[in-house]
Amino acid sequence: MNGTKESGNALGGVELSFIGCGVMAEAMIAGLLRQELVAPAQIVGSHPREARRAELGGRYGVRVFEGNREAVEALSAQGEGGDNARARSIVVLAVKPQRLGLVLGELKGALRADQLVLSIVAGARMETLAAELLHPAVARAMPNTPAQIGQGMTAWTATAEVNDEQAAQVRAMLAALGREMHVESERMIDMATALSATGPTYTFLVMEALVDAGVHMGFSRHVAQELVTQTMLGSVLFARESHKHPAELRNMVTSPGGTSAEAIYQMEKGSLRTVLSKAVWAAFQRAVALGKK
Ligand SMILES: NC(=O)c1ccc[n+]([C@@H]2O[C@H](COP(=O)([O-])OP(=O)(O)OC[C@H]3O[C@@H](n4cnc5c(N)ncnc54)[C@H](OP(=O)(O)O)[C@@H]3O)[C@@H](O)[C@H]2O)c1
Repeated sequence: MNGTKESGNALGGVELSFIGCGVMAEAMIAGLLRQELVAPAQIVGSHPREARRAELGGRYGVRVFEGNREAVEALSAQGEGGDNARARSIVVLAVKPQRLGLVLGELKGALRADQLVLSIVAGARMETLAAELLHPAVARAMPNTPAQIGQGMTAWTATAEVNDEQAAQVRAMLAALGREMHVESERMIDMATALSATGPTYTFLVMEALVDAGVHMGFSRHVAQELVTQTMLGSVLFARESHKHPAELRNMVTSPGGTSAEAIYQMEKGSLRTVLSKAVWAAFQRAVALGKK
């Protein structure tokens, strides 16, 4: 026993190497350790800065190397041939898109056939990753910022070379960030980029506008903030738990001649729905264009 969950744990005994230990990699490491899906000894990573390496080592008890290739080579050779044909290690690419070209060059040819690559790098196509790394088993995920508190929504897909066991490992890794959903294609990853990965932006803008509206009426900012935040949180939880269509929930609070009816009239008149739809569509087009670069 190493302090991790044994039964039904897809990551039992799997080693993980995080290339680029920034915000998202740390969120994943913290979630995996908190849920006891892996032990610190199963995790290695890389980071160019000494202070960050020491910080992560101290906080989580994981080994962090300076070199990216070193962090891949530190994974034990357990999966190679012999009686163990199972994929026993995962290399997570978590650098910024601008650094990816350099990192792929460093890692070229360093991966064993049985290893899995999981990339969370925005815009990076699986075909590019596979060609640059000379490695066909690649999964690609698109998380969002609430992942930093374990409340993320991550869409992911994978190449045909990723087997069922590896897919289960990807699910378990991403569940450490919140909820995960497999999608069939990279086009759907672009769609999720516009809807769920860019989603917090729409939510924060609406929150901000409502808080400003509260201040306009005369509430102090912190009071308006509390009223708006808890109302949004409660509404979302209510919608999820009731399993009702949003229009039905909205109708429930819309009395004839009441305040909701008045507010809805103004939102429709101001084309709020159309504006949101156009914003999501524009974000989707941008994701497609960035992916082609
Ligand atoms: N944050 C999100 O909500 C989110 C959502 C969807 C997708 N993503 C994707 O996730 C990836 C990571 O995002 P993040 O927010 O975690 O970014 P981040 O905090 O900047 O993490 C990247 C880390 O890589 C380090 N780094 C820089 N050059 C490196 C190199 N050559 N080799 C190895 N590591 C290097 C950076 O160090 P320095 O700090 O010293 O530069 C930084 O700590 C990005 O590709 C992003 O597109 C993020």
